[in-house]
Amino acid sequence: MIEVRSDERLFHLATEHTSYIIEIASGVVPTLRYWGPRIGTPEAAGPHGEMPYRVHASASLGALQLEGLALEYGTQGEGDFRRPAVSARDGAGYPVTTPVYRGYRVHSGKPELDGLPSARLTAETGADTLELELIDEAAGLLIVLNYTVHADWDVIARHARLENTGTEPLSVERFMSASVDLPARPVDTVTLSGSWGSERHLARSPLGPGIFATESTRGTSSHVANPFIALAVQDTGEDRGEVHAATLVYSGNFLAEVDASLEEFHRMSLGINPSGFSWHLEPGESLTSPEAILVYSREGLDGMSRRFHRTIQEGIVPKQWARAERPVLLNSWEAQYFDITEGNFLSLSDTAAELGVELAVLDDGWFGERDGDDSSLGDWYENTEKLPSGVDGLAEYVHARGLGFGLWVEPEMISPASKLYEEHPDWCLHIPGHPHGTAATLGRNQLVLDLTREDVQDRLIGTFSRLFARAGLDYVKWDMNRYLAPIASAALPPERRGEAAHRYVLGLYRVLAELRDRFPTVLFESCAGGGGRFDAGMLAYMPQTWTSDNTDAVSRLYIQYGTSMVYPPVTMGAHVSAAPNHQLDRNTPVATRAAVAMSANFGFEMDLRKLPSEEREILRGAIAFYRRHRQLIQQGRFLRLESPFEGNRAAWMFTGDAAAGGAAPGDAPDPTAGLARAEGSADALVFVFRVLIGMSPDEAPVRLRGLDPEAVYEVYVAGPRFACEAPPVATAGGDELCTRGLEPALPRGDYASAVYCLYRRADTP
Ligand code: DGJ
Repeated sequence: MIEVRSDERLFHLATEHTSYIIEIASGVVPTLRYWGPRIGTPEAAGPHGEMPYRVHASASLGALQLEGLALEYGTQGEGDFRRPAVSARDGAGYPVTTPVYRGYRVHSGKPELDGLPSARLTAETGADTLELELIDEAAGLLIVLNYTVHADWDVIARHARLENTGTEPLSVERFMSASVDLPARPVDTVTLSGSWGSERHLARSPLGPGIFATESTRGTSSHVANPFIALAVQDTGEDRGEVHAATLVYSGNFLAEVDASLEEFHRMSLGINPSGFSWHLEPGESLTSPEAILVYSREGLDGMSRRFHRTIQEGIVPKQWARAERPVLLNSWEAQYFDITEGNFLSLSDTAAELGVELAVLDDGWFGERDGDDSSLGDWYENTEKLPSGVDGLAEYVHARGLGFGLWVEPEMISPASKLYEEHPDWCLHIPGHPHGTAATLGRNQLVLDLTREDVQDRLIGTFSRLFARAGLDYVKWDMNRYLAPIASAALPPERRGEAAHRYVLGLYRVLAELRDRFPTVLFESCAGGGGRFDAGMLAYMPQTWTSDNTDAVSRLYIQYGTSMVYPPVTMGAHVSAAPNHQLDRNTPVATRAAVAMSANFGFEMDLRKLPSEEREILRGAIAFYRRHRQLIQQGRFLRLESPFEGNRAAWMFTGDAAAGGAAPGDAPDPTAGLARAEGSADALVFVFRVLIGMSPDEAPVRLRGLDPEAVYEVYVAGPRFACEAPPVATAGGDELCTRGLEPALPRGDYASAVYCLYRRADTP
């Protein structure tokens, strides 16, 4: 709901539980009056906070002291010295300084963002948009700030659009999607950081004075950072405390920053990373920022994640996948690497089918002369020596066994040793005539295609449309195995060279949008050396992402826990792999490997044929277990219970979440109760993991959440083969399980785990 009050100077953006109130100070400058729990609409109050030594803006900006205001979209040059939301220069090189409020518009739904993905906050879903216009007449810059309110999902989506309304070109040097000035309080910054193989580790630290930033300059959102930032009041936990958070629907260079240089405000902003960025805006041209999704929670980090999860699952992933069951898959990578032959892959698929796997994916190595990572990217035709029946033959064979068929591709890359490179050596990102040549920029022996070019985009659309149509694919893994460097396109004119990074992403989005729309039934999984591009932008085209190249179960506790801050488990690819693990050489019990992987989008990448029979039976049980409870895991509500970052244990659970449109298996209880109940889908699943065993007992109760306090639950332990057997290990009220907790009984030894199924008793209210 958007309410306009006080002579159109006050805008109240209300979601179910939050209020975001904008006041146009002195009728010229949009300011943030309030962002927090839902309140009634106040009256306009006008500016305050005059201080000596502060600069007064020009008369057109009401001679206000801008630094004393909570600005909605700051610029520099009129007395606000904090990090601006936008900076641009006019044709004469002078900074654009004076965007003045000109008017507003309210409409239902949300406009499409030019060439960019965004959440489906449509009129049908009850969303409304406020547009505020600011204009700098002298420079000829129009800024349109967009705020879309989704009451049910409790989120506000923001983006900005710049338009050159003058007669001279403008040069845009910094362009944030959203900027909010919050009253300063003792808060922690919460971000996700890491590196290849340890992506999205939770990073939390007290915010000090100065500038705090998390960012990527790598051309992708990256393994190192994630386009997400939260400010959490210092005692905030999972289920209590106030959090202001935002994530970007964007996959390229980003900046998420807090300017805490003033005592009164914390300015939190997110947008395209200004490092290396400039955009040439000719008269009449416009530029749209990526979308930022803003969330306020007074129910701690869980309240924040719940809102992000729902928006991503219902509003960002392609509609047809929002509520679709995802198959249990087998991927050939860690089972066979480049050692692919038709016989090898098919016999592996046979074993997988026999265990209950539903989709077989042929990873890298199937095309061109690809026997290692040093050739053939660009040559997207099968190697018939390895695969005499071709990709179509494989698909046919696999389909006949009742499995879906999937293929790995890495479309954005080109190997110097490829036919494509012979044909188009200039199609990669490079600086022509550079003394080091393009070879200096090799990463994993490959170059990056220049996706700023329309001819390159068209070629990808053509090549992959033919491949995907021909092979009758059910699934595609879209990989991307290096960062962009140099981020330079020889095809752009000199004044546009600073546009390359953002144009690359726009080019990629164009290709992905075409392929997504042409192949609506193909399930796409994105990947960038694991989780190097795990963001809401990619999820708009591909509903799941390979979470990390690190498949070690213990490492995955941290990675999946951190990732869940923003992204729901159904978006995370998680596979059981061999022991010892190929990345870390760690030996973990097969049951723990299965329990970690089944906490997300379940799959395998190991040679299932070589398993000892006991392990094979455990995995057979795990697959059946996952399939039985998959609706709960993929569509239910995920709750973090204990953080691996804070102790020697990790725990999480899934409950039905009818409110989110997800599974609510408890709604239809089985009247026979008892053992038979344990055969159907549970009402809640609880996973508990120990990292290292110690002398002191570590089996303190795990406090559950999200249960009905009035109901009585039977708690079954999933036995060694993932079968819940009667009798229940406990029968307890939801209130007791949430306050006193559930006492886990973990097997002895390092890396042990236990999985519990909770069934609500039919005879409880
Ligand atoms: C990196 C991916 O993350 C792996 O899963 C695998 O697909 C390899 N690339 C193949 O080259």
